[in-house]
Amino acid sequence: MDYLSITGPCRLQGEIRVSGAKNAALPIVAATLLSDEPCSIENVPEVADIRTLLRLFEKLGSRYLLEDHTLTIDNEEITNTVATYDIVKTMRASILVLGPLLARFGRCEVSLPGGCAIGQRPIDLHLKALEQMGASIEIKNGYVVATAPEGLRGARIIFDKITVTGSENIIMAAALAKGKTELINVAKEPEVVQLCEVLAEAGVEIDGIGGDELTIIGTDREALKLKPIKIIPDRIEAGTYLCAAAITYGTVTLNSVRSDHLDAVTAKLHEAGCRIESEGESMTLYPAARLKAFELSTTEYPGFPTDMQAQFMALATQAEGVSIIEERLFENRFMHVSELQRLGASIHLKGHTATLNGPIQLLGADVMATDLRASSALVLAALAASGVTNVHRIYHLDRGYEALHEKLKTLGAKIERLKE
Ligand code: EPZ
Repeated sequence: MDYLSITGPCRLQGEIRVSGAKNAALPIVAATLLSDEPCSIENVPEVADIRTLLRLFEKLGSRYLLEDHTLTIDNEEITNTVATYDIVKTMRASILVLGPLLARFGRCEVSLPGGCAIGQRPIDLHLKALEQMGASIEIKNGYVVATAPEGLRGARIIFDKITVTGSENIIMAAALAKGKTELINVAKEPEVVQLCEVLAEAGVEIDGIGGDELTIIGTDREALKLKPIKIIPDRIEAGTYLCAAAITYGTVTLNSVRSDHLDAVTAKLHEAGCRIESEGESMTLYPAARLKAFELSTTEYPGFPTDMQAQFMALATQAEGVSIIEERLFENRFMHVSELQRLGASIHLKGHTATLNGPIQLLGADVMATDLRASSALVLAALAASGVTNVHRIYHLDRGYEALHEKLKTLGAKIERLKE
């Protein structure tokens, strides 16, 4: 296994390009199952989660080529509609094939994804909505066995909770259903919006894109013809690098980024004393004179994203005063706390709220990544810590950050990727 060896403190300087959004590419690749013709997707991030999903597609009979961030994929010959445990257990977003496979083929089996480090991650809302669309759902030997021999039919669905992949699964199912589907309390993350735009450009009638209510008129199992797609920039990768600049008091420019997808993140960075200027597809962060403590609660888009909570906790260790961070979406998304404490951070946990005193001079140490975003928080803290920090189990990072250590090196970080 590889690990990252980082020597701090450093001050990042320069500019990098933000990759395509993993959480936009995953549902859009799943949506290609709704088509029986080849289609091409540009700006696909070359990260482990995408490679895992493509391994699953290979097992389904899909043919594809991923070259230099462009994916050409042809799902005309899907010969198998079983998504097996060995793949689904490594990447729970594989559940995104459930909706499209069921809508197009009328039957599929998808392994239950199981929980992960940040929480139990149930899929009850996905299954309840599919049943409302006429599917019969059975849980057998750890698999969801879904059938809809007559195809799915439109329904009025109210989500009890806002669920990103739950919304995406049902949007894709509704695209091929018979009749009208109304979705209430649907997620409106930019990744969900791009999925809707891709389906609308393929001729699916969708009203309310970007809002919390959608109306979708399905094609009654007529396969879609997807137009060429370019994945939107990754707002969480962008936010992570903005935090890297802020925590090292550096000046960093991000290129090919959608600043309008980062309003809650940039507002919080302003509150912490940073200045951010956006121009076209670029954003530049100018450092605070001294980072100021802040308070945040994670919530659904357009509120402060849970996927940025760990990174801001690292930032809070350097902020003057008492910072308060509340995690409202996941029950166990504080795995980075004990690792940050190993670096010397002063963090007090009470239920879903962390209270930090700062600034603290962190000292390099060996730390262990536990999940994708927690590992990026450890990298940020290591950039500010004095001495050498070794971040172990960085396969978590590889899931969602493309060329992270090369990008940080470009910005002047002293970072090496080494073998255990
Ligand atoms: C998506 O996960 C993202 N993953 C996550 O990003 C992100 O943290 C999360 O949305 C929240 O923004 C992808 O898009 C691939 P949810 P998802 O369903 O869809 C509860 C990353 O770092 N819930 O919106 O799995 C659930 O327990 C990853 O890239 C149910 O109760 O999250 C949670 O408390 C980590 N029943 C809340 O809803 C359900 O059927 C939000 O979960 C579904 C969800």
